[in-house]
Amino acid sequence: MGSYSRCAQVSTLGASAAPPEALLRDSCLDLARCYTCVEVCRLARLHSGVLMPATDAILTYPDPRLRRTAEPVEEVTPELRERVQAMFPLMYEAKGIGLAAPQIGWNKRLFVINVTGEKEDELALINPRILEKGGGTWLMEEGCLSLPGIHGKVRREKRIVVEAEDLDGNVLEIECDGLVARCILHEYDHLDGVLFIDRLSPAKKQSLKRKLRALEERAASAVR
Ligand code: NI
Repeated sequence: MGSYSRCAQVSTLGASAAPPEALLRDSCLDLARCYTCVEVCRLARLHSGVLMPATDAILTYPDPRLRRTAEPVEEVTPELRERVQAMFPLMYEAKGIGLAAPQIGWNKRLFVINVTGEKEDELALINPRILEKGGGTWLMEEGCLSLPGIHGKVRREKRIVVEAEDLDGNVLEIECDGLVARCILHEYDHLDGVLFIDRLSPAKKQSLKRKLRALEERAASAVR
């Protein structure tokens, strides 16, 4: 995973190039493989006015869309790949290490993670299935991009085996532990409408009540 390369057009255009309309016509056919291309395509759309920019935003608690059970992805299409690729910059901008489709209001069983921030550690898991959990459990403080300012210790299994499709539609089996396993379990929960606050101890949940209430009130005042 994560073997993304800069395409020739992007390399020659550079970051501050004029709106690259040409990219809309005859390149970026393989944009799902090229993160930089995805960005340039979005810019090109924005500047040319040919298409509206696709700007997904991260939903926050208590948005009801975070509580739905997500639906399986039926087919990995170029459009799906592009939208999944665009989740990485959104996640980095928010300083997260994982982002699940339901968090952008996209009710599909997929998520992206990158626990190191290095390009080669980007992982997109589509229709994931947890095949095994083991190695005992461990506690670690978690946060969530959909719960700004909220943190709490969650107990999770140390080691997992997960099966998922990648952006090419290939089935992968990944055995992992530590932070990667934790991150996958956290994101997997999102696909079932589960948030990490659901897994906190009753005492911790109680101590967070005021902060959660503040998020609820903020959402209520936003819709008024
Ligand atoms: Ni989360």
